[in-house]
Parts: sequence; C-alpha cells; structure tokens
Amino acid sequence: MALKIQLFLALFFFLLQLLLLLAQTSEAIKHNKSPIEIQPYIIDYRNGTVLRYYNGPRSFVPPPIDSQVQSKDITIPSSLNHNLRARVFLPARPDPARKIPVLIYFHGGAFCIGSPFGWGDNHFVARVAAEARVIAVAIDYRLYPEFAVPAPLDDAWAALEWVAAHASRTGPGHEPWVAQYGDLQRIFAGGDSSGGTIAHNLAIRAGLSTGPRLHGLFLAMPYFLGSKRVPLEPEYIRFSPNYRVWPYVCNKCKRGVDNAFINPFGPGAPSLSHLGCKKLLVYTAEVDELRGRAIWYYKKVKASRWAGEARWIEAKGQSHIFHISKPDDPATTKLIQDLSAFINTNN
Ligand SMILES: *[C@@H]1O[C@H](CO)[C@@H](O)[C@H](O)[C@H]1NC(C)=O
Repeated sequence: MALKIQLFLALFFFLLQLLLLLAQTSEAIKHNKSPIEIQPYIIDYRNGTVLRYYNGPRSFVPPPIDSQVQSKDITIPSSLNHNLRARVFLPARPDPARKIPVLIYFHGGAFCIGSPFGWGDNHFVARVAAEARVIAVAIDYRLYPEFAVPAPLDDAWAALEWVAAHASRTGPGHEPWVAQYGDLQRIFAGGDSSGGTIAHNLAIRAGLSTGPRLHGLFLAMPYFLGSKRVPLEPEYIRFSPNYRVWPYVCNKCKRGVDNAFINPFGPGAPSLSHLGCKKLLVYTAEVDELRGRAIWYYKKVKASRWAGEARWIEAKGQSHIFHISKPDDPATTKLIQDLSAFINTNN
C-alpha cells in the first residue's frame, strides 16, 4: 500500500515538473529575442540596435541650394507622428505670378530602409524640382522595425492633408513655399518601389475619402506582390528579398502577400476604379523582377472603370530604381523628361 502511494506521488511530481518545463519553454519561445536578419536590408538585434544596410545608419546629405534649386528640411504637423520630417525643394527663381504643381514623393527601400536625405534620393528629387519645375516634398515616413505598415501609409495621408490644407492661405505649420507657389489643384503623388506602393495606397485612400484628391499619380517600379503569378512575373520572385521581407514589415497584416496594401488585386482590395486622381504614369525598368506586376497593374487600371488617363513607359535595359542609384544617367534624364511632360501637360 505504502509503495503504491510512493509510486503515485513520484508520478504526480514527475508530471508536474514536465508541465512546468513545457510552460517555461513556450514562454521562452514567446519572448525569443534572437536577432531578425532580413538580407539585404536590415538586422534588428532586438536590443534597441537596428543595423540598416546601404543607408545605414541613414546617410545624410544637407539640403542642396544651388543655381537650379533651393531646399530645406521641415517637420510636417501630424497627430500620429510628431516627427514627420520632409525635404522640400523649390526651383530656383520661381515666378511669383505663376503657381506650380506640388509633387509629394516617397522613397523606396522595402519599408525598412531609405530616406529623402540620402545621396541618390536627394539628388533625384532635386533634379525633378528643378527640371519639371515643381515644388517637391520628399517624405521621411516611418520605417520597420520601429514601425510596421500601415504607419508609412498614415504618414503619407498626413502629408497629403497637410499640403492640401495650404488652400486656407495661412495656418499653423504652413510652409511659405507651398503657400506662395503651390498650385493645390495640381497635387501629384509619386514614389519608387515601396514608395510607389505608398503612393498607390494614398491615391486609393483619397478616392475613397471625402478629403483631398490628387491630380496625378506617378509609380516608378512599384513594389506589388501577390500569391498568384501574373504574366511577365518571374517564378523566382517567391525567393527574392522583396517577397521575404513583406511578412515582417507588415507583421500585423492579414493574408500575407495578398493583403490589399501590397496586392491591389487581393481579396477585398478596393477596385482600381477608386484611384483618387485624374491621371497615372507607371514607369517600369526592363531588368526588374517587379516589372511584370507593375505592367499588370497598368493594364488592370486601363481595363477598370476608372475615368482617368493612364500611361506606361518602360526604361529599356535598366534595373530596379536606376534613377536613384544613377541620378545623372541619360536614362534618368529621360525619366525626368517623361515625368515633367506627365506633370505639365494639361489634361
Ligand atoms: C545589441 O546587440 C548587438 C550585437 O550583439 C551589439 O552590437 C549592440 O551594441 C547591442 N546594442 C545595445 C544597445 O545593447
């Protein structure tokens, strides 16, 4: 009898130990703080240190002032992000009697790297302002891992509302260049790669809201994904960093790569006929894994009931975001001419 009780107790404590061990293990897994490395973008050491490749630690060139352009860094008032920085560019010798379009620009970098203050982005946007004669506002939206999508989309919306609010002439946080020279009937949004994704989502939000509208949308080599392959999309896209990074940068998003933020044709995505702009320019590069889906996007917009004017131009022999990596290349000069014609042609 005593032996039986002893055996029973032994078994009981053994099981109790096992349960405790299991609980501890699952707790350890939950609080696993091993680094997250997403090649070739970032390492998040999860101890407060984030290493960003390419731009890390966020390279900075001062705002240019030369014979072509003047620029400065500003903070855009936003209730969601108290540190929404932007670099604003004005062409040299603006005509005080003539208002010019405003281009809100979003840099690329897979939602986790890049800024308007880096060499390539700064150089490109400065050229656009000078040569297309627009006020350009390049947005330093929030990035992963500090912030996940949709934080950058909210920053984009805050930027558009802020630009549009200059219609009331003066107000807190108004930028004198935008107030004096900005034609608020011609607000454009543009971006490359993930910046193109942001610009697309901004146009959809504008179209669905009763708030400000865009005049035009410029998508340069936009970053769109989807689980179902589309024509011209390579099979290997599934293994590319562009594909692997999305579940991290949008870590609370449902449906993975079919989430409407990254797949404009995903289940539940608003119809492209909602684009809140009058014209669209899609710019692709021939040697770019994202090209197929961008062309598909252009064709779907054309086929939709959207009432605007859509154009598609491809840079032959060029690779992803060539205009940022080679801002003085002849191909970039052509892109800027095409963009200028898109912005400044009345239709
Ligand atoms: C975090 O960990 C990395 C790698 O071990 C180290 O280089 C870095 O200094 C650490 N940062 C902090 C704030 O402890």
